[in-house]
Amino acid sequence: MFFYRKKNKCSAVISNGIITKRSHSNIALIKYWGKHKKKIQIPLNSSISLSLKGVYTVTRLIYYIKKKKGNLSIRIFFSGKEKTSFLPKTVEFFRNILFYCSFLKDYNFIIETYNTFPHSSGIASSASSMSSLALCIMEMEKRLVSSLIKKDFFFKKASFLARLGSGSACRSIYSGLVVWGYHKSIKGSNNFYAIPYPYMVHSIFRKIEDTILIVDEKPKSILSSKGHQLMNENPYSRERFKCANKNMDRLISILKIGDFQEFGELVEHEALTLHAMIMTSNPYFLLMKPNTIKIIHSVWDFRMQNKKNIYFTLDAGANIHLLYPFEEKKFIKKWIYSDLFSFCKKIIESFCY
Ligand code: PMV
Repeated sequence: MFFYRKKNKCSAVISNGIITKRSHSNIALIKYWGKHKKKIQIPLNSSISLSLKGVYTVTRLIYYIKKKKGNLSIRIFFSGKEKTSFLPKTVEFFRNILFYCSFLKDYNFIIETYNTFPHSSGIASSASSMSSLALCIMEMEKRLVSSLIKKDFFFKKASFLARLGSGSACRSIYSGLVVWGYHKSIKGSNNFYAIPYPYMVHSIFRKIEDTILIVDEKPKSILSSKGHQLMNENPYSRERFKCANKNMDRLISILKIGDFQEFGELVEHEALTLHAMIMTSNPYFLLMKPNTIKIIHSVWDFRMQNKKNIYFTLDAGANIHLLYPFEEKKFIKKWIYSDLFSFCKKIIESFCY
């Protein structure tokens, strides 16, 4: 579906150019953890995320025609400084997508990128960076191969390409609630690209605040690619995949009914299950820090005492996302800054839309 037939194999136009795109980070509610052993970035369960406003990557792709046929040349600049450490993942990404974007072989590239969130803040930037790069490449395809590409195809293929860079990146192509991975109850869901959540969502979930508490700024002690791989041998993985599927069904009905308490409990359960999988892999890892646990207990105590809708979720790391409805923002935010600030290195404000 996403590669060209023979007659379209060559670029229709050959020219130099510059493209700039931005893409938001996302936080998964039902987590993707575990992928197919032999295929590239095929998830073993479906996931759903919220795209985060204000937390994004801007990528400028400069493409220029190769003088001589041969190896791909890429230079990457992050916040104005050349970053050779980003090269291996980016080169691998270009290699993975070449079959679907054969026009790339005629060009060399300079990639300039920056994040709106602080560098080394502990927020995963691979989702927003890979998806913004995928959007740039689709824009290039539109300019050079087919100006008639329809909007729907543009985003589907961008999501497909982003997935080949980093699984969760395919969800960052869209705003709002986004699903990736086949689930029997979600029409159009599939393992190859993400789709906007297609069903009714109660108004309480239309604007969710996300306060991100940075407990640890250091890079994670486990790369997510390694973590996914370890799920193939994890003794609890089968149960995990079953549970994720059931949780998706539950979430569909929660999103419709508008029960924020059920929503939050499910999201917390998912976060702790992700960490349980990481802790029971071989080798095992413990990614939460003492302050992560202190914050979780403070959230539970505050919730009990004040009857407020505030719930946490985690990525594969020590940092915490606090999710709460926009309507309850004033009271909750005051508490976060007075009671949780001392456990954090930084606080980043975002909201899901
Ligand atoms: O996209 P990856 O390979 O970095 O994996 C991301 C996995 C989690 O962030 C832990 C969960 C998710 O679904 O985003």
